Amino acid sequence: MSPSTPVRRRAASRKASFVVIANRLPVDRDIGPDGTVQWRKSPGGLVTALEPVMRRNGGAWIGWHGAADEKIAPFHHDGIDLVPVHLTAAEIKNYYEGFSNATLWPLYHDVVAHPEFHREWWDAYVAVNKRFAERAAKAAGRDAVVWVQDYQLQLVPKMLRELRPDLRIGFFLHIPFPPTELFGQLPWRRQILEGLLGADLVGFQLPGAAQNFVRLVRQRVGYKTHRDTVYLPDGRSVLAKAYPISIDAADFEALARRPETTARAEEIRRSLGNPQHVLLGIDRLDYTKGLRQRLRAFGELIAEGKIDVDDAVFIQVATPSRERVDQYRILRDDIDRLVGRINGDVGRIGQQPITYLHASYPRSEMAALYRAADVMVVTPLRDGMNLVAKEYVACRYDNLGALVLSEFAGASAELKQAYQVNPYDINGTKAALLQAMSASDQENSRRMKAMRKQVNENDIDHWASNFLDELITDRDPHEMRLRPVKTPLARDF
Ligand code: G6P
Repeated sequence: MSPSTPVRRRAASRKASFVVIANRLPVDRDIGPDGTVQWRKSPGGLVTALEPVMRRNGGAWIGWHGAADEKIAPFHHDGIDLVPVHLTAAEIKNYYEGFSNATLWPLYHDVVAHPEFHREWWDAYVAVNKRFAERAAKAAGRDAVVWVQDYQLQLVPKMLRELRPDLRIGFFLHIPFPPTELFGQLPWRRQILEGLLGADLVGFQLPGAAQNFVRLVRQRVGYKTHRDTVYLPDGRSVLAKAYPISIDAADFEALARRPETTARAEEIRRSLGNPQHVLLGIDRLDYTKGLRQRLRAFGELIAEGKIDVDDAVFIQVATPSRERVDQYRILRDDIDRLVGRINGDVGRIGQQPITYLHASYPRSEMAALYRAADVMVVTPLRDGMNLVAKEYVACRYDNLGALVLSEFAGASAELKQAYQVNPYDINGTKAALLQAMSASDQENSRRMKAMRKQVNENDIDHWASNFLDELITDRDPHEMRLRPVKTPLARDF
């Protein structure tokens, strides 16, 4: 579909009663050899969960299309109006790579990398957030419900409320929200807090993050708070609560159950020489994921003779990410070197202990990898949730397989039966890997059943409906002073 088709023009003029604003659009662009443009839904639970709500409500999704210096007119795709936001090359550098991913990302993840503070990055963050807010103000119908996503857009709730006081605005942070001591480093801490307070409901992955936010508002902005509520001087109040995000568990299980997936899982094991133990890591190549510590732990177990190189293989998939940000370049070189060193030190001819894949794979291949893995190793140094852990659980309908999980991943609060580790503790990680590898099927099955129950009962629909119910529900007028929602959302969950 070209940008000038009538469908696109119609989409541009229609007003939506439900609007999602995220840094990225939920579609990827494919340009064919003859120049034809095709948009494909990008994989991911968020769009899957929100699609039905959007279809029923004439929903619009506002986001960046991923390219520099390109203006694309709004268009309609698969039941959703998509409203692309353009970014200049300088804005990609300063707003996306800079303030979002070299200031906020490390700061919010326990400063595991050093956050950089640059005033020109902040200026770009303000300018781009303003553009998103203006685009949303235009797309939203009267009294619409607007849901802003993630750390790239924390100023949007306030900016949007100033433009459109009639809207009901929700915000959800997908990554951790830091403790007050770390957040305090940010030169623009007050603006960020005030930006978020433009929302009626601010959602976090964990209760601790919501508490950090409320405490910061009290300390740094001086507003009155009580438990999960902030009282603003203008009479409005804002609720801050936890909504742990999840996955489309049924869909993953269906994928895992396909005969093609089983065949592919067997093929993967065969091509590794049918080892006794297949260990697996699947992560974006990010310094928050604890790849260094995890690979070192595995390498040491082999070097010490606790694992025989003939018996075990570690598959590490590292999906390319944010490759123009310095810290990510450094990490890539570090991991390349580390994998080379371990394989060189403890490998044998035809027996490489680590199979390292710097690539991204379709969901079908991920499901086959999950089915092929005896031990799934998810050991981030800090992670908002970590959906890979939940995907693994959803795919193990055979109730087998073991999950080694960092206690610093949001998922550890729900997946209590995983082999939990402190990823900084390499000896502890080694012990957990050995324990997971040597546990009986009966033991692993007991753990997996409990985790599967948790993931199946708390899937992505559950997450979205909990958040939206809270956002549109009228609360006690004395307590919350929210306007009633005039156009309730039509939903089927
Ligand atoms: C994390 C963030 C998302 C982000 C994703 C991919 O999950 O919470 O907001 O979209 O990483 O990162 P990217 O920079 O490629 O959008």
